[in-house]
Amino acid sequence: MLSRFIMTEVMKTCSIRPDRLLLHLLLMASFAALPTNAQTAHPSNAQLASAELNLRVEALLKQMTLDEKIGQLTQFSAGYATGPGASNLKWDELAAKGQIGSFLNVVGADATNHYQHLAVEKTRLHIPILFGQDVIHGHRTTFPVPLAVAASWDPAAAEIVAHYGAMEVRADGVPWVFSPMVDIARDPRWGRIVESSGEDPYLGSVMARAWVKGYQQNDLSLPDSVAVSVKHFAAYGAAIAGRDYNAVDMGEITLRQVYLEPYRAAVEAGAATMMSSFNSINGIPATANPFIQTQVLRKEWGFNGFVVSDWGAVRELINHSIGDGPTVARKALEAGVDMDMEGDLYSTVIAAQVRSGRIPESVVDEAVRRILRVKFALGLFDHPYTAASAPYEATPERRAATRKVADETMVLLKNDPVEGLGKLLPLTTHAEKVALIGPMADNQREMLGAWAVNGNPKNVITLRTALAERLGDRLLYAGGCDLLTGEDANVLKRVNFNSPPAADEHLPVPDDAKTIAEGVEAAKMADIAILALGESTNWMEGEASSRTTLGFTGAQEQLLEAVVATGKPVILVVLAARPLELKWAAGHVPAILEGWSPGIEAGHAVADVLFGDVNPSGKLPASFPRAVGQEPLYYAQLPTGRPAHGDLSRLPRFADEKFMSRYMDEENSALYPFGWGLSYTQFSYSQPTVSRAEVPLSEVLASGHRAVVTAGADVTNSGSVAGTEVVQLYIRNTAATVEQPVRELKGFRRVMLAPGETKHIDFQLGFDELNFYNAEIKRTVEPTTYNIWVGGSSLATAETSLKVVE
Ligand code: NOJ
Repeated sequence: MLSRFIMTEVMKTCSIRPDRLLLHLLLMASFAALPTNAQTAHPSNAQLASAELNLRVEALLKQMTLDEKIGQLTQFSAGYATGPGASNLKWDELAAKGQIGSFLNVVGADATNHYQHLAVEKTRLHIPILFGQDVIHGHRTTFPVPLAVAASWDPAAAEIVAHYGAMEVRADGVPWVFSPMVDIARDPRWGRIVESSGEDPYLGSVMARAWVKGYQQNDLSLPDSVAVSVKHFAAYGAAIAGRDYNAVDMGEITLRQVYLEPYRAAVEAGAATMMSSFNSINGIPATANPFIQTQVLRKEWGFNGFVVSDWGAVRELINHSIGDGPTVARKALEAGVDMDMEGDLYSTVIAAQVRSGRIPESVVDEAVRRILRVKFALGLFDHPYTAASAPYEATPERRAATRKVADETMVLLKNDPVEGLGKLLPLTTHAEKVALIGPMADNQREMLGAWAVNGNPKNVITLRTALAERLGDRLLYAGGCDLLTGEDANVLKRVNFNSPPAADEHLPVPDDAKTIAEGVEAAKMADIAILALGESTNWMEGEASSRTTLGFTGAQEQLLEAVVATGKPVILVVLAARPLELKWAAGHVPAILEGWSPGIEAGHAVADVLFGDVNPSGKLPASFPRAVGQEPLYYAQLPTGRPAHGDLSRLPRFADEKFMSRYMDEENSALYPFGWGLSYTQFSYSQPTVSRAEVPLSEVLASGHRAVVTAGADVTNSGSVAGTEVVQLYIRNTAATVEQPVRELKGFRRVMLAPGETKHIDFQLGFDELNFYNAEIKRTVEPTTYNIWVGGSSLATAETSLKVVE
């Protein structure tokens, strides 16, 4: 059966140009190694590999004309636009002719059923449409943004967010989400850091698995499961200089060891689809990159779902200067990009190339197969329609789930004692009157965060509302300033992603001096001031939102300085979902809480922490810089031959201080490093221990996913209130053939400790944790010594070591 399949394919290839024969034979050879219905011997998703499902796929595929096949590879947005240049075609007609396999941005039972009826009832083969949608941090119920969820260091939190998103979007007729975004983000100039899990491949991989599990529940056929689209494959987060859509240029070791790891984790967790990225990687655009989309994804990882391009990314290959329309479409399809999102290239230029023999029909067939598998696995052929459901309500149960997640995401950056008052947080009765000041204090829309596509600002509890619930008329409020100044502030007020401002609308330009003075007045009348500052999440975070500066936007810094100048004790709440530059604040404000974009329960969650009902437990998933010029800044740096030690805050005085890897005008270190986050209690760590000091190399190499040694430490809550600590384990490989980062996270655990309580926390180490890519691009372990630290951040000092011996 298999050999007949291969022979037929080879004979087909013989009818094409001789110079392409070798390529096609190679392509076929790679298929030949595989079972007919799966891409590799180890398909990543068992459901998609099921024999029964694949029989249905093959039976259907046999009946399909070339045009029907190409219809399956075509996706358009028939709703609001989530990118530039949206098409406006005759959707009904195309759906009824089977020329659209998938829509994005069509949401709701009515809208999806409308197109589904056309596809299922009017087309010859009754193939249902697959509706896809951006569900990034909840669908109707907006949870904290993904970067915040990563700050919880709690995979269960990601699972909850994903699961609510899945339930709600599926009830809206959409069984496919463009999430999780697992791009490693080491440069906060890149606005999309908000959608990521931050800078670290280990944390990013744990979170990637959790998101996939939450959405897919290991069973795509469940009525409240959705297929994921893991994005953006690959390395999109490494855009040069943090400018969105920019090229990516990096060595293959870093690509694999850092950037590809979370995608690999998501594939291992059974991700049903992937989305190709806009960027090029070492000169080859990811959307036409056979190394990324076929060699790594399918051959090495056994991915057996399908790949959709990003919005217009196939057409954009023309701008990448790798060919004209027909050429780039062929390159993308042959590289392994199965579906063309919001682009009309597959639908217009593939068929002719198949007919002329330029593209083997088997390539189209394979893409169709991959897409049909997902449609079958989701049960769309058996249940194509969606029952009408009650209108959405932000029920107490949904609110409670959001608040619980948001509570865990809060990161207490600083809480220094103030003379005569002690620590300002948690807030106690010493504050008779509290002034809440700032543009983030009472702004519902901003609390939803970027990519809250179907979230509704009306459901948001702001900080002003939440504090008023607790303080009544002891709360004073002043907006202080806008998020931007001058006409820009008005642009922000008018714009929304999907609704341009009315042309004749005119708002007066805000008077910053006046509003700042009002903020200062409010502070003067109060015992304590809480400043709620940030940046516009709707317009300055997320896609196409790169920045060259990382300070508070508009007149906010002036507002902060003016309020601090009153001499009143100040608590700063930062509501922004990218690491901002907080250097001035850190030097002048005693208490700083990072609240990100917390979603509909924003105010309650921030207040929970401010008042100590919740002891903060979040830790930073990305380093906060002292100055934007340090970016990209991350803790897991590679070593340098001239490491800088000592006090780097001042100019070097001798050659030995100067000729070091350092800046002349700033320290090297982060202002707040990866893993950082304070609590209202204190945690102390014992000297870490390992279960054995030496382990034979052969044992490590054979260990696979098994542990060969445990490393751990005692953690004690040495304060007076209960608290949750994120215990973190870092390693350093001190002698490898390829230099390794100065520290790498290899384990973490959230641990709840009562006052005075001690727990011993152990981490398992085996090949998975100890390996690295050698110069031959093979994952390996060599004889070496690993330094091991266990502690509460990437600055952990309690240390032990492990030897791997020949
Ligand atoms: C472009 C974005 O890059 C991607 O993340 C998103 O899923 C698609 N547009 C669809 O909206």
